Amino acid sequence: MSCTAHTPILESRVLDWPDEAACAAFARQLAALPALWPSTFIALDGPLGAGKTSFVRHLLRALGVQGPIKSPTYAVLEPHVLPATTGAPTHTVAHFDFFRFADPREWEEAGFREVFGAPGLKLAEWPEKAAPLLPTPDWCMELDVGEHDQRRVNVHALTPHGRQLLAPIR
Ligand SMILES: Nc1ncnc2c1ncn2[C@@H]1O[C@H](COP(=O)(O)OP(=O)(O)OP(=O)(O)O)[C@@H](O)[C@H]1O
Ligand SMILES: [Mg+2]
Repeated sequence: MSCTAHTPILESRVLDWPDEAACAAFARQLAALPALWPSTFIALDGPLGAGKTSFVRHLLRALGVQGPIKSPTYAVLEPHVLPATTGAPTHTVAHFDFFRFADPREWEEAGFREVFGAPGLKLAEWPEKAAPLLPTPDWCMELDVGEHDQRRVNVHALTPHGRQLLAPIR
C-alpha cells in the first residue's frame, strides 16, 4: 500500500535518478529549500533496497550532519540535531524506519506523538507499518528500482505545504 492510499494528491513530479549521484544532487537541492522549516513530513515508499535510507543520508549530509549516520532499522527513530547557524533556531530531523514497528503502544511510549507534534523535519521509511497513527505526509516519495542504479521517483504533494515545497522542483 502506498502512502498516497487515503489522501488526494495535490500535485506530483517524476524524478529520474540514473545513479546515486543524482539522488545526492536532489538531496542537496531539497536541503537548500527554506520551506523545509519549521516543519515538513516526508514519507518514503519503495521496496527493500530502493534507496530510502541512502536518500535520507544524502539529505542529512547536505543539511550539515557530520560523522556516521545510523539507520533507524532497529531503533525505529534516529534523531538528529543540525549544526546551529547564527541567529537561526535549532533545527531537528527525525528519521523513522517503521519496518519493525508492530506495537501501537510504542507510539505513545517512545514519544513519537510528541515528535510529530513538534517542529522539525520528519522522514519516514515504511510509513504503511504505522499508517493509522501517522499524520498526512506533506510529500509521499515513491522510489522504483530500475536497471542497475537507476531509480524513478514519484514525488506526490499531499498537503498545501507539500505543494509549496514542490513548486521549485522540476
Ligand atoms: N540511484 C540511487 N539512489 C539511491 N540509492 C542507490 C541508487 N543506486 C544505487 N543505490 C544503492 O542502493 C542501495 C539502497 O539501499 P537503502 O538501504 O538505501 O535502501 P532502503 O530503501 O532504505 O531499504 P530498506 O527498505 O531495507 O530500508 C544502497 O546500497 C545504495 O548505495
Ligand atoms: Mg532503509
